[in-house]
Amino acid sequence: MIKISNVSYKYNKGLVLDDINLEFPKGSWISIIGANGSGKSTLAKLIVGLLKPRTGSITIDEEKVEEDNLVNIRKKIGIIFQNPDNQFVGVTVRHDLAFSLENANTPWEEMVNLVDKTIKEFSLEDLQDKEPDNLSGGQKQRVAIAGALISDLDYIIFDESTSMLDPQGVLEILSEMKKLSQAGKTIIHITHDLDLACKGDDILILVAGKVFKYGSVKQILADKNNILLANLELSTILDIYYNLALDSKYREVLWEYLFKK
Ligand SMILES: Nc1ncnc2c1ncn2[C@@H]1O[C@H](COP(=O)(O)OP(=O)(O)O)[C@@H](O)[C@H]1O
Ligand SMILES: [Mg+2]
Repeated sequence: MIKISNVSYKYNKGLVLDDINLEFPKGSWISIIGANGSGKSTLAKLIVGLLKPRTGSITIDEEKVEEDNLVNIRKKIGIIFQNPDNQFVGVTVRHDLAFSLENANTPWEEMVNLVDKTIKEFSLEDLQDKEPDNLSGGQKQRVAIAGALISDLDYIIFDESTSMLDPQGVLEILSEMKKLSQAGKTIIHITHDLDLACKGDDILILVAGKVFKYGSVKQILADKNNILLANLELSTILDIYYNLALDSKYREVLWEYLFKK
């Protein structure tokens, strides 16, 4: 579980996050939505220890996220950004995947087997000897996710990871997320795309650095104002849902049809 207690943060001027208290249960899939500048990326960076809270604390499986403990924290949680360019360490995709295993002193044979298995799982056969820099956006994301999986991270944060991808790339990442979720990983997905946000278990809405709403997808979507008051635009599908669901006899059927995972 990720536990965020009384966390506030500011860069230089006013508070960007204001007294955040949240729990993200292990194994769940949480979507974080909120207008530009509402503090989503800052929250993500605090959780992985890239920033230090001004007040309060964060624990992951009861281990405190703090400078002295970052080596342990990084074994549990990883973050994939919109543009994963700066995340690759290997000369080739294959090397990149092997890197974290090498660092963990994994025996050679086990390492080769794991890398082969992951390459197959993520259909990276044709890319394995290429330089990560030369891949397309979607391919880079796939390698970054494969890297998170091979390192056996329990928690993975996706910060707008799909926003630069074409529709096909988005579907691929979504299907990887589903696989990770089914494998018991905890997913925190920051996204602008409300339809994608509905694919998870829970939705957290941030407004101006505060928790505005946090609940199951169903609870959050039950009231259109949760979306509108957060200055977010309804997606086409949600708009259709709200119009048709006015008639309560359609509500459940529509829900099943449009949003069920
Ligand atoms: N490195 C930074 N220095 C100063 N202000 C920042 C920095 N990064 C973000 N901010 C400000 O903090 C607020 C929250 O930003 P951010 O967490 O990136 O929001 P979101 O990801 O929801 O768009 C915004 O007002 C943004 O301008
Ligand atoms: Mg952001």
